[in-house]
Amino acid sequence: MIKMGVIGMGIRGTMFADTIGQNQYAELAAFTEYDDSTRERISAAYPVPGYKDFKTMIDREKLDAVIVATPDFLHRDAVIYAAEKNVNILCEKPFSTSAEECGEMAAAIKKNKVKCLVAFENHWNLPFVSAKNEIESGAIGDILNINCHLNDTIFVPTELLPWARKGSSVGWFLFPHMVDAISWFTGKTVESVYAVGTKKKLLSMGINLYDTIQTVLNFTDGTHSTISSSWVLPNSMPLIYDLKIEIIGEEGALYIDTNNQMLRKGNAGGYSHVHTLGTAVNGLSTGGPNFMLHYFVDALRNNTPIEANERAGLINTQIVYAIHKSLESGRIEQVQSELVYTVKIGK
Ligand SMILES: NC(=O)c1ccc[n+]([C@@H]2O[C@H](COP(=O)([O-])OP(=O)(O)OC[C@H]3O[C@@H](n4cnc5c(N)ncnc54)[C@H](O)[C@@H]3O)[C@@H](O)[C@H]2O)c1
Repeated sequence: MIKMGVIGMGIRGTMFADTIGQNQYAELAAFTEYDDSTRERISAAYPVPGYKDFKTMIDREKLDAVIVATPDFLHRDAVIYAAEKNVNILCEKPFSTSAEECGEMAAAIKKNKVKCLVAFENHWNLPFVSAKNEIESGAIGDILNINCHLNDTIFVPTELLPWARKGSSVGWFLFPHMVDAISWFTGKTVESVYAVGTKKKLLSMGINLYDTIQTVLNFTDGTHSTISSSWVLPNSMPLIYDLKIEIIGEEGALYIDTNNQMLRKGNAGGYSHVHTLGTAVNGLSTGGPNFMLHYFVDALRNNTPIEANERAGLINTQIVYAIHKSLESGRIEQVQSELVYTVKIGK
């Protein structure tokens, strides 16, 4: 059995703990939750040792892997400590909110030869998997550009993520997914970025965060892609997020739209789109993060390489960091050019 410990038992950590319970080759051996009331509240649902401090958990439990699901800006210490103790790592995105920290994290992982998966879960998200298959089959030819829109309702920065104002942004929370998807679909290398953003609505509520950020990614082959994200959609939207991507190729186009999840509900509580990408079937959850966890367990069992690894996480953070730098400087910012994924069209 692959013995796993989860660090940070919030929304994502408990989802991963539940998914471990659905994997026949893995077991939840322990968890760490810093907040005393949360740790006490969840302890009945997860009857394994619960720690306040991840170092004590890693030192005491003989873990094969940890899942780091702490807030965006608190991934570094747990990742480096686990790597130094030869424990494999599944780390939430963004890998870090600091390009410098990311370098230290990737170096520790490489030095200690542990495996690391950064949670770019769209590699296991059904519409994205189908789009990738279409691209690789040659259905739309060479990709000219990708335009991504990924927005959340205002509930996310104001209520769901109380830590957002301490060290995250709509850019750090949402862009890693879109930057990664663009790299994964195109296999192209980002050379520079330009970004603009608006602070108005959240600022009026006393929250010093961008409402929206728009960015252009410039690739080394002279083509471009765009990403636009907002954190202020009204809470009356039918789904908490709104994700649309258009992929324009020389021979065709692909469109992803996960807003309508194929099931719509209207009742006294209002109108909503029921989240279906992830519904449990035969007791097994079917969402991207669930399939990602099973992939990670298999990579540990079979000692197979991980594509969305610490290098992908490092380059992703360097790009998102440059986007934030451009927001402040108002200039095009260069990115250290490095290939992340290889795409084989017509394989
Ligand atoms: N891959 C995705 O699609 C996706 C989706 C949502 C969130 N996330 C990422 O997952 C991470 C967690 O997000 P969340 O929504 O679960 O947040 P959350 O606030 O629900 O959970 C975070 C938990 O970590 C705990 N914590 C903080 N510091 C800790 C420490 N040092 N040791 C142990 N526990 C600690 C907090 O008390 C909290 O319970 C973030 O980086 C977020 O961006 C990823």
